[in-house]
Amino acid sequence: MKNLKLLGYLMVFASAFLCVQCTSDAIGPPGADGKDGINGIDGVDGVDGSAASCIACHSNEKRDPIILAWSGAKHAIGGSWARGKSARCAECHNNEGFIDFIETGSVNPDGYGASNPLNCNGCHGSHRSFDFETDGNDYAVRTLDAVPLRNLENIDYTIDYGNASNTCANCHQPRTDAPTANMDGKFLQTSSHWGPHHGPQTALLEGLLGAYSTFTLVEAIPPVQDAAHRQGASCIECHMGGTTDGSDGHTWTPAGTNCATCHPGVPFEELKVMPDLIADWEALGAILETVVGQAIIEDSTAVGGYIPVFEDDGVTPVPVVGIVHFEDGEWHPQVGLFDLKDAEAAWNFLYFYEDKSDGVHNPDYAKAIIANSLAAMQ
Ligand code: HEC
Ligand code: HEC
Ligand code: HEC
Ligand code: HEC
Ligand code: HEC
Ligand code: HEC
Repeated sequence: MKNLKLLGYLMVFASAFLCVQCTSDAIGPPGADGKDGINGIDGVDGVDGSAASCIACHSNEKRDPIILAWSGAKHAIGGSWARGKSARCAECHNNEGFIDFIETGSVNPDGYGASNPLNCNGCHGSHRSFDFETDGNDYAVRTLDAVPLRNLENIDYTIDYGNASNTCANCHQPRTDAPTANMDGKFLQTSSHWGPHHGPQTALLEGLLGAYSTFTLVEAIPPVQDAAHRQGASCIECHMGGTTDGSDGHTWTPAGTNCATCHPGVPFEELKVMPDLIADWEALGAILETVVGQAIIEDSTAVGGYIPVFEDDGVTPVPVVGIVHFEDGEWHPQVGLFDLKDAEAAWNFLYFYEDKSDGVHNPDYAKAIIANSLAAMQ
């Protein structure tokens, strides 16, 4: 059915081309009329005005505001797109790497000569069907498949929003597991970039990845997929829907109007802020800055590549103060050997930070992991 339709469109183009051929170089007198051909097969009914609907969505008028919106968004101008030459980063930081990853399941192992920002062609490919009446319009979104969290060893989980938000989940997912005891019952932290990486939004929306194995819980942790924001929405509803400026959501900034369907009467700027939660998170950060761990140095012979450092007496640990610290307007983790409890609290702190929604993605889960972390540290 869909192929028949596409064929129909192609034939319109093709016959227009043929007409140009036969009128342009007519010489000599016309011949006698030929015999009538046999009737063609009746065409399938189209969606009313479907050619017009193609044009409406493919017109410059429709696209210009979308292109303009995209061209100012982080998807087009963010600094991290420069990182996608490396094979390790290309699947999420290079348009071509992302397309390769979706279409073939892997990126070029040698990396890429150029790294381009995500553009129209990254998120969009071809329509799966032209029978919009029966199948709906897929907006030619490149992938609707469910998405495994692919970088975690301790969580085996597949995300499926059942719509185009699955495209987002391929990139906006965590890249690191929550801490576990990996040296003498403690947590050896060796990376200046430790944390769930910058895009753990899927995990928070789902209600995963919090670390609390050493805590006595003061608040219950909500179950996976419990959040109203997960059950009633997904990335695209909040980040793309509800715009009225012709951008059709291509700035990816929540329009706010969508919140109002479930939270009528509360202005967006007010609604999205949870002052008590932010205060708890800040209090947690202040405590974590004073946590004392042990310094470490590289040692290629050691398991994990590092050993803890002692004073000259051989027994007194050389201290590291702060499992996180605040510098140049940003929070960073510090390397060292830390108590697992401190590491779990720091993990939750950084997770909340990297998610960047100030808890909105999953308010109850965010509140629970921050409140439990704070209680454990106090
Ligand atoms: C609601 C919007 C919408 C409608 C209606 C629509 N399309 Fe599309 N179509 C898109 C988007 C978005 C893309 C992604 C590529 C892009 O950026 O143009 C696309 C891509 C395509 C492509 C692939 C382009 C390429 O470069 O490979 C073809 C062909 C196409 N559409 C044909 C049609 C036809 C024929 C119809 C009518 C039956 C139609 N479209 C209706 C939104 C629409
Ligand atoms: C190819 C990977 C990829 C896909 C697919 C993707 N994103 Fe992104 N997104 C990124 C990266 C990388 C950035 C950060 C760019 C920068 O600042 O350097 C980003 C930035 C954003 C931002 C802005 C963050 C900020 O700091 O302002 C939002 C919001 C966002 N994405 C939402 C979405 C949504 C919603 C979808 C699905 C429709 C999606 N993204 C699909 C990789 C992706
Ligand atoms: C699984 C997908 C994924 C992989 C792999 C990945 N990133 Fe990212 N990264 C993201 C997303 C998504 C964002 C944007 C999140 C946001 O803005 O909230 C991001 C953001 C960033 C940022 C911007 C931080 C900021 O706030 O300005 C840098 C820098 C970055 N990544 C570096 C890297 C490097 C280097 C690699 C490879 C070693 C890498 N990333 C691999 C998904 C990924
Ligand atoms: C980060 C991924 C992403 C990028 C980049 C992107 N789009 Fe889209 N676009 C989407 C998604 C997802 C939808 C469908 C949203 C939905 O299902 O409601 C969409 C919808 C559309 C639509 C249909 C809008 C409507 O509601 O009628 C058009 C047209 C379109 N995109 C064009 C473009 C063009 C042109 C570009 C490049 C300037 C572009 N898109 C870049 C993800 C993207
Ligand atoms: C219930 C609505 C809702 C849902 C669902 C939702 N978001 Fe958000 N998201 C928000 C709000 C609100 C913010 C904060 C924006 C602000 O402060 O202006 C945000 C922030 C973000 C940011 C950081 C933006 C920035 O400016 O730094 C990214 C990236 C992001 N969301 C991606 C996603 C992805 C990917 C999904 C799907 C896994 C998703 N969001 C699902 C509402 C939502
Ligand atoms: C599908 C309906 C729905 C949508 C859409 C929605 N919310 Fe919610 N939201 C809820 C429900 C129900 C709750 C309370 C239960 C829960 O948190 O699971 C809630 C809770 C919240 C909370 C926590 C309030 C508190 O103090 O505990 C905040 C903040 C919030 N939403 C902000 C937003 C923002 C901002 C948007 C739009 C970007 C949005 N919501 C969109 C249904 C929705």
